[in-house]
Amino acid sequence: MKDYRLDYPFFKNNPNTIFFDNAATALKPQCVIDAVTYYYSHLSCNAHRGDYNLSYLVDKQIAEARRDIANFIGANDNEIAFVSGTTEGMNIIANGFVSKIINEGDEILISELEHASNVLPWFKIAHQKKAEIKYVKLVNGKITPESVKESITSKTKIISLAYISNVLGYKIDAREIAKIAHENNIIFILDGAQSTPHIKVDVKDIDCDFYVFSAHKLGGPTGIGALYGKEEHLANTDPYNLGGGMNKKFGKDTNYDPYNSVRKFEAGTPNIEGIFGFKAIVNYLSEIGMDYIEERERILRDRALDGLRKLDNIIIYNDDPEAYTISFNVKDVFAQDAASLFGKYDICLRAGQHCAKLIDGVMGTYASLRCSMYFYNTIEEVDEFVKVASKGSDFLDAYF
Ligand SMILES: Cc1ncc(COP(=O)(O)O)c(C=O)c1O
Repeated sequence: MKDYRLDYPFFKNNPNTIFFDNAATALKPQCVIDAVTYYYSHLSCNAHRGDYNLSYLVDKQIAEARRDIANFIGANDNEIAFVSGTTEGMNIIANGFVSKIINEGDEILISELEHASNVLPWFKIAHQKKAEIKYVKLVNGKITPESVKESITSKTKIISLAYISNVLGYKIDAREIAKIAHENNIIFILDGAQSTPHIKVDVKDIDCDFYVFSAHKLGGPTGIGALYGKEEHLANTDPYNLGGGMNKKFGKDTNYDPYNSVRKFEAGTPNIEGIFGFKAIVNYLSEIGMDYIEERERILRDRALDGLRKLDNIIIYNDDPEAYTISFNVKDVFAQDAASLFGKYDICLRAGQHCAKLIDGVMGTYASLRCSMYFYNTIEEVDEFVKVASKGSDFLDAYF
């Protein structure tokens, strides 16, 4: 089996660092760095504007990137818009589509597990339209099709959920929830920020109405992501940003005509190097295979859970084989202090509320540590992490 770590310059440059903050952003393989550099060193010109060969080559790469990214999640090219990330994608759906179909008293169903970018756009629409925000009833911290069924009413117009939670790491049964949503004429939106890096996603098989994700969580560049929408929904979605590159024409009479395609969502000069890197990462992961990635992470996660379970000083909040991350605390140590102590041992973890500020009631704690692994992490790193976690009551001593 190939050693994928050799593809990541990070490990050569940080030989003693254990990077377990992959849910925040993943490390970048050389092919992504090369793709970004290739754009700047060989092409460098703008997209969709020039009539010379270099500009044509840029446009061609962007079209190919759209095709490869669409393939990666089982979509068609004309259903993928480039956005700056999950956050922008959600805001486009909320402001450009949902705001047009939601009325006073209608309900938007989310959950207390959601990231801010799948909460705040809905709060804004709810305020504007006098709509209600409702929360799915959780079963042991999980969203089940049955709990969704119980939580919808005749007023529910939208269900918007993370496919995989960024804190507890639970995956929802998106296919079944889409079915329930559509049986009740509800639009189903999936936040794919944490699922796309780890599992094979097929938006057609799931039958969600919208799906958004960020390239950087896969190991692509920051500031670029994809918005998928069913063709008929995208046709009914107004562009959020207006400007060059998204319109067919405009005149002094103040009328303007947006493109009929996904280009209407891509006003302004695109993040061209980001798109080059995005293409590189989906092709890299496709070559490795998402099944391999999922299985490899499961082995690492199980090993870490087995180790942590044996420690009296550790509280695990999602001690469950279904979780993709581990959320925990060191007893009697504030999460941020514990994270900086792990940091002293060169172990990178995330601490706090993980941008999911409604979750503390669910977890019974205000802040937690999150250990999120990716396929390039190793058993040796996991064992070292557990060893540091085992420091118990003398944990604080390590600091002084
Ligand atoms: C579940 C989830 N949704 C949305 C986001 C926002 O992603 P971005 O900051 O790339 O827009 C994140 C990022 O952590 C996330 O974990």
